[in-house]
Amino acid sequence: MNHFLEISQLSREQIITLVQRALDFKRNPLSVSYPQYTVVNLFYENSTRTRVSFELAARNLSMPVINMNLKHSSESKGEELEDTIRTLAAMGIKIFIIRHEQEGLPKKISQLLSNQVHIVNAGDGKHAHPSQAMLDIMTIIEQKPDLSQLKITIVGDICHSRVANSLQDLCEIIGIKELVLVAPKPWQPTGSHYGRVTTSLQDGLADADVVIGLRVQRERMQTHEICDVAQYRRDYALTNETMAYAKKDVMIMHPGPINRGMEIDSDVADGSRSFILKQVENGVFMRMAILEHVLRS
Ligand code: NCD
Repeated sequence: MNHFLEISQLSREQIITLVQRALDFKRNPLSVSYPQYTVVNLFYENSTRTRVSFELAARNLSMPVINMNLKHSSESKGEELEDTIRTLAAMGIKIFIIRHEQEGLPKKISQLLSNQVHIVNAGDGKHAHPSQAMLDIMTIIEQKPDLSQLKITIVGDICHSRVANSLQDLCEIIGIKELVLVAPKPWQPTGSHYGRVTTSLQDGLADADVVIGLRVQRERMQTHEICDVAQYRRDYALTNETMAYAKKDVMIMHPGPINRGMEIDSDVADGSRSFILKQVENGVFMRMAILEHVLRS
């Protein structure tokens, strides 16, 4: 059965097809219905936008949705996640959307239960957040379709960001002019990565077409990785002054949740060049395309 686990499982053609399908859904959200498929949301980490976005996507496709109350589930009695999923699958549930702090867990479950269920990764630890990267590229293509000319810059806490990982995979597969990763030394990628790494915000922002800010993810940091927050703000915050280095029509994006006055100023987050709420809007349509994709292919 088909799963949606990480961007690297997709070809360039599949990425473009998913974006096109999401744009179709945006024009006509209630065009198809799959009432025979029930979706379960299994979110073991906090989430507002991603959980609600998947729920709305499923509802638009007429799929019944169950949001598991994990505090009251059998796992609080020691049951393993795979047994919980097996139990729900025995009741006929086919699609499981999983967010979990353990990296690789959605993939592991997909391998164990491959013939019974479809697994969708909604974020696993620091590893991957493929639906976020897909809605990001949808938002970019809608606005700036000539990918071969694009300079995209990701700024901030790169090494703790599953969003940045999935975006790197996506940019590599889809092909853009340049990807730049801007971060202070302790937050630069530690292993293999795609894109040019720099500590200089000015260098990263120069002539950028798209700037993607990241949340400072304190909850994921080891003690030696904690930066001086005031210093970080001085050197890396997205402000009206620093954004002047980028192109005039730069798209400013952020996966949210945003820390106003920390990695990004309100003027920038709420300004006319901000696509942050457009990303949220597009997320529902992209997740509709993803749910349909796992069922079809
Ligand atoms: C991101 C996440 O949870 O990975 N948020 C999101 O899904 N929109 C980014 C973050 O937590 O900073």
